[in-house]
Amino acid sequence: MTRILGVETSCDETAAAVVDDRVDVRSNVVASQIDVHRAYGGVVPELAARHHVEAIRVVIAGALEQAACGLDDIDAVAVTRGPGLIGSLLVGLCAAKAIAWQRDLPLLAVNHLEGHVRSAFIEHPEIEFPAIALVVSGGHTSLYLCPEEAVYRLLARTRDDAAGEAFDKVAKLLGLGYPGGPVIERLARQADETAYRFPHAQMKDRSLDFSFSGLKTAVRRRVQKEGLGHDAPSGGEASPAVADLVASFQKAVVDVLVKRTMQACRKESVRNVLVTGGVACNQRLRRAFAEAAEREGCALFLPSPQYTTDNAAMIAAAGFLHLERGEHAPGTINAEATLPL
Ligand code: KG4
Ligand code: ZN
Repeated sequence: MTRILGVETSCDETAAAVVDDRVDVRSNVVASQIDVHRAYGGVVPELAARHHVEAIRVVIAGALEQAACGLDDIDAVAVTRGPGLIGSLLVGLCAAKAIAWQRDLPLLAVNHLEGHVRSAFIEHPEIEFPAIALVVSGGHTSLYLCPEEAVYRLLARTRDDAAGEAFDKVAKLLGLGYPGGPVIERLARQADETAYRFPHAQMKDRSLDFSFSGLKTAVRRRVQKEGLGHDAPSGGEASPAVADLVASFQKAVVDVLVKRTMQACRKESVRNVLVTGGVACNQRLRRAFAEAAEREGCALFLPSPQYTTDNAAMIAAAGFLHLERGEHAPGTINAEATLPL
């Protein structure tokens, strides 16, 4: 049996997990800072780093305790090296380095996006290659072709905002609170998503790239034109017009994510589809992907919510690929805010 301790602090969740043999999650602890950042309508990097410093020891101790083990039972330490907020990344990286150095354990430096892709394998180790993987979160909207294990070819990315970021910005614009995704999903459930028509951005070069800033601007224009802004103080109920607006926005985001992903499957003749990252919690998105996959005869893999938003189980799961390949990071390795996958 091989046991990895995973550590993740790339954004605003302090997370640690213990995973055995690639996919057997023994513990998965996440300390969310949502309450810290809510007042600002988004993540404040300096506050995030400070709260990671306060939480990291407790979170790692909690993950070990829940897994009923100690550091003596750990075979390697996997940690997010990037991309993310530099001050946040450094906290997890320093903690992981210290443990690896003190215990003489391999240090596995994981790309956060590889972690999201591998999150799908935790509950579905049977996923076959080649596969198309969509990572759709607050920081990223990227499509990868994975021809085989541990190989990621970038097919498309967002040219401006990430999809989750668009959810957050639209919610902020309407005074609906932070993070935007869950609030918008809830409001949209009772609303008419055909009330407003928002166009899909199509790249002139016919690439599969995404763009969400035009959609955000279109929503803002509607809000100004119809005087809809800030009609619901955070936590309060929004008007039906606002609910229809955010439902239509959500539909536009979901439609384009599904459309591009299925285009990528056809273009690359791939029939395995992975949809990962925080926005993949969204039930409307999950339904749309399930329908599209069924229609096109693809196998769809969606992690359950505890593995879609940022967590350390996915970092440990990705760490196994590094460990198996002997890819140990040197103790001098640094965090990288813009690390590409
Ligand atoms: O993966 P994640 O936890 O962090 C990043 O790596 O960015 O994703 C967070 C993002 C936020 O933008 C949040 O609004 C979005 O995921 N999100 C959702 C939902 N839950 C979280 N977006 C749409 N619907 C949801 N239910
Ligand atoms: Zn993430």
